[in-house]
Amino acid sequence: MNNNADLQGQGPGRTSIPEPEHDATILVVDDEPELSRALSKLLGRNGYHVLTAGNGEEGLAILRREEIHLVLSDLQMPRMGGLDLLKAAQVVAPNTEFVIITGHGTIETAVGAMRAGAYDFIEKPFSINTTLKVVRKALEKQHLIAENRDLRKRLAEIQGVNEIIGNSDVMRQAIDTARQVAGSSATILLTGESGTGKEVFATAIHGWSDRAKRTMVRVSCAALPENLLEAELFGYEKGAFTGAVARRKGRFEAANRGTLFLDEVGEMSQTTQVKLLRVLQENVIERLGGNEPIPVDVRIIAATNSDLPVMVAEGSFREDLFYRLNVINLELPSLRSRGEDVVLLSNFFLQKYNEKNGKQLAGFTPGALEVMAKYAWPGNVRELENAIERAVVLSKDSVVDVDVLPNSVVMGRQRYDVVNIPVGTTLRDAEMQLIQATLDSAGGDKETAANILGIASRTIYRKMQ
Ligand SMILES: Nc1ncnc2c1ncn2[C@@H]1O[C@H](COP(=O)(O)OP(=O)(O)OP(=O)(O)O)[C@@H](O)[C@H]1O
Ligand SMILES: [Mg+2]
Repeated sequence: MNNNADLQGQGPGRTSIPEPEHDATILVVDDEPELSRALSKLLGRNGYHVLTAGNGEEGLAILRREEIHLVLSDLQMPRMGGLDLLKAAQVVAPNTEFVIITGHGTIETAVGAMRAGAYDFIEKPFSINTTLKVVRKALEKQHLIAENRDLRKRLAEIQGVNEIIGNSDVMRQAIDTARQVAGSSATILLTGESGTGKEVFATAIHGWSDRAKRTMVRVSCAALPENLLEAELFGYEKGAFTGAVARRKGRFEAANRGTLFLDEVGEMSQTTQVKLLRVLQENVIERLGGNEPIPVDVRIIAATNSDLPVMVAEGSFREDLFYRLNVINLELPSLRSRGEDVVLLSNFFLQKYNEKNGKQLAGFTPGALEVMAKYAWPGNVRELENAIERAVVLSKDSVVDVDVLPNSVVMGRQRYDVVNIPVGTTLRDAEMQLIQATLDSAGGDKETAANILGIASRTIYRKMQ
């Protein structure tokens, strides 16, 4: 489980919200085994999950891979001391609360630790009551902050709903359908090329649904190897595999009464597909290493840019799972199929990146607009957004001109030139027309044309004679 948090790009920011009184995991870091054993026992008896580490380094390793709500750490330890651990924890596990354990006469250092961000300190030898009180309060604070963060995130999700830009017929239809189906709990499969806004739509659908009160949890099925993905989705019991030193809830449980966004679902292995199918059929999950079914109420929005029907035909995606996911299919249009939205989107992104970069570009030159309108945008909205961001950063004028657009966009303008060859044309003539058109679009450059056509340039010379 070492890097799963990193792979998700979310780090321990994913710390779930435990009920303040129980279900919290506490890490005790102390080099005195006796003391650490006594503390563990006390905390364990009071319903907390407890992990222990003998020094700061060990503690940090655990913080990297486990979901810890509170650290109780000694100050003076060999290897990495408590203060250094605190500083590192603020980076790798910013949502974890920290309480310092101090020996007699080190109060000053403890106060220093609090200034550095520790919630409180307890003094050795500690009283049971004080310790439990401090722990409870620290966890309450952690809980409140986590709840707050969650609320802010949901607010952002709801506000994000306004940001589906598009006024073309295809886009309006897609938005209408999304609004219509948002209210139900039906599984939705979002399909479409890369960068067409699948995640944008998933976020919007969640925001429009009754589940918006709860969170939308995102999992990319492509980011993790099979066993890590399963651990991530279903969670695990302590001891389920080497390294599973504490119980951990999975994303399904985290998404309970909310939405689970399963991105790149086509990348899921066959075994995981079977497990997912079962969850969809029975609405229960089992943690890895556990055998108790846990009911979950989760709305699934899946997304993919692979062709699932083809994968089903080839046998790499289960047909039964496909039908389960494809209850409602929303196919997002490519940007080139809704060319009229390019101007709208460009202006939206111009505004966005003006603000971000403290610039005041007023718009686009007719030349720039023409180039953008002709380009095919294989990377869709994402590619357009990146192009505009780049243009805003590079531009020294008051408007965006062709010179700050990416080369690929400027060069690609001929890209969709079409050769119209009527039936009845000989192969020889058809070939000549295609070669001529390709040469034209490559500006007469025989090398480039040959590359595009997949033939040697001397073949072009030969054919041209
Ligand atoms: N209709 C839209 N209005 C505004 N911004 C959009 C729209 N569609 C996409 N975007 C922006 O384009 C980028 C790509 O969108 P998104 O991540 O949703 O695409 P995707 O379909 O999930 O792509 P991929 O298949 O590569 O994951 C994001 O920055 C998103 O904000
Ligand atoms: Mg995506």
